[in-house]
Amino acid sequence: TDPALIRNFCIIAHIDHGKSTLADRMLQLTGVVEQRQMRAQYLDRMDIERERGITIKSQAVRLPWAPTGGEDGTPGATHVLNMIDTPGHVDFTYEVSRSLAACEACVLLVDAAQGIEAQTLANLYLAMEHDLTIIPVLNKIDLPAAQPEKFAAELAHLIGCEPSDVLKVSAKTGEGVGELLDKVVEVTPPPVGDKDAPARAMIFDSVYDAYRGVVTYVKVVDGHLGKRERIRMMSTGAAHELLEIGVSSPEMKPADGLGVGEVGYLITGVKDVRQSKVGDTVTLLNKGAEEPLGGYKDPKPMVFSGLYPLDGSDYPELRDALDKLQLNDAALVYEPETSAALGFGFRVGFLGLLHLDVIRERLEREFGLDLIATAPNVIYRVIMEDGTEHTVTNPSEFPTGKIAEVFEPVVRATLLAPSEFIGAIMELCQSRRGTLLGMDYLSEDRVELRYTLPLAEIVFDFFDALKSKTRGYASLDYEPTGEQSADLVKVDILLHGDKVDAFSAITHKEKAYAYGVRLVGKLRELIPRQNFEVPIQAAIGSRVIARETVRAIRKDVLAKCYGGDISRKRKLLEKQKEGKKRMKMVGNVEVPQEAFIAVLSSD
Ligand code: GTP
Repeated sequence: TDPALIRNFCIIAHIDHGKSTLADRMLQLTGVVEQRQMRAQYLDRMDIERERGITIKSQAVRLPWAPTGGEDGTPGATHVLNMIDTPGHVDFTYEVSRSLAACEACVLLVDAAQGIEAQTLANLYLAMEHDLTIIPVLNKIDLPAAQPEKFAAELAHLIGCEPSDVLKVSAKTGEGVGELLDKVVEVTPPPVGDKDAPARAMIFDSVYDAYRGVVTYVKVVDGHLGKRERIRMMSTGAAHELLEIGVSSPEMKPADGLGVGEVGYLITGVKDVRQSKVGDTVTLLNKGAEEPLGGYKDPKPMVFSGLYPLDGSDYPELRDALDKLQLNDAALVYEPETSAALGFGFRVGFLGLLHLDVIRERLEREFGLDLIATAPNVIYRVIMEDGTEHTVTNPSEFPTGKIAEVFEPVVRATLLAPSEFIGAIMELCQSRRGTLLGMDYLSEDRVELRYTLPLAEIVFDFFDALKSKTRGYASLDYEPTGEQSADLVKVDILLHGDKVDAFSAITHKEKAYAYGVRLVGKLRELIPRQNFEVPIQAAIGSRVIARETVRAIRKDVLAKCYGGDISRKRKLLEKQKEGKKRMKMVGNVEVPQEAFIAVLSSD
């Protein structure tokens, strides 16, 4: 295709503002999906995506569109519109950023009943960083609660255009969607590239397909990639043969090759997405490019959690399941770990909390595993007085000895809410060790607050706390911005003098006491009386900061049955046996498995 007729664009929006629904309408309107095949959210293929209504992996589709011509209304030339669907959530910012890099314009979609939200802003800033042409659009104008005039003014103010430049559509009814496609053709700059230069294509997505292996989505920037050519991945140097190249429309359609500005897919027969990394540059093996396209980053896990099967015999299944998920998720990392309390499991690294949630849910749902997950923690860098350095991904590995300094990751958070909640938000951020960076009014009653916050303070229950303090009106987005030195300590929990590794936590010094008291109190309620007295302690190093005691009982269940009837006796014995099965031994204390789950589940 002549690059002059190509338009590459994406849709960015806050979650639930209707991106997938709009994409569906575009598929229908351009005729690439027939009416009877149409099902809601055609592009979200993973079951879990459809159920949760979120987009996890981005996809690209090729849409033919002949815009309405000039005055006389005759159709113009047929253009090729490549629509690149982007994931909407903070954890996948890196993927969003690669998808944006493949585009020349973006549709900034805002719910006309909700207005601008935190992810609208975060995505808009990303789009501006990539110099994209921004097409502001209000969606859901069919809703009675829609306030298109008010939010058009807000959007116009934000991006510096006229309120009349803001398009108004209903993805549900299809109203205004044709005009939007016309606008895309009109304002999106055609891709520029050198067709005679050595081939360079950017990978913006790669997904694992059980039948075809890894399917890699690319945008060709320079040169040409053809069928059966040998290609090279520039970050690793790995060479592959192109078994198939083509475009998705939206089903995969093989082609002879892809030229400048074109978006499509490659199949090389590799089985592991880590061979085909998002952000990497593809070139030809012979006469390839020297310089990769910019912007490649290795996905870096930010949040770690221990995953353990409830039933220890499921361990091999858990390992197989993680292996399978990793085929399709280059950002998922894990290694075996043993815990005295929980047995054999894995320490798993995630991009963020949603990523963790999605993986956990897939393990449980698709692989039928029952899991215990330890409280999520971030990565710490610990510098010892002798100058050695430790990277800690598991609190139980926090070094003992003379520590000089501890660094924790921090994020830059953007919070958006109606102005009546400013006080509540500030209070929350303060209690989470946040530093206010700035505050802006987007309109009279909507305010944007920017904070630096330790990531550790966000990963636990920040989002829930924010929602409850603002009755669900606030939205949050964050991005990593480095690390800071902080006064952090490890709190251990001891049962009868034995450390319970699963409950160790790294906290700020000022919060250590509260953590210790809370955990010790919770455990005292959950641990049944034993034949001996069981002290439960929280300690920093050898210093005990909280203590409770579970008093001893005589565990003679038969005592009260002397002379009683025999069937009742048997019942009691069976009950006791039953109870034993779900107990774990910590040192010589029996702890019911429910206690672990109850303590580890956040609240
Ligand atoms: P993610 O993919 O999870 O980021 O969400 P999304 O932005 O794709 O939102 P989605 O398309 O799933 O739409 C969210 C909800 O809004 C769904 O219940 C849609 O049916 C509804 N919706 C989308 N567009 C419209 C619209 O124009 N009018 C009305 N009334 N509802 C809409």
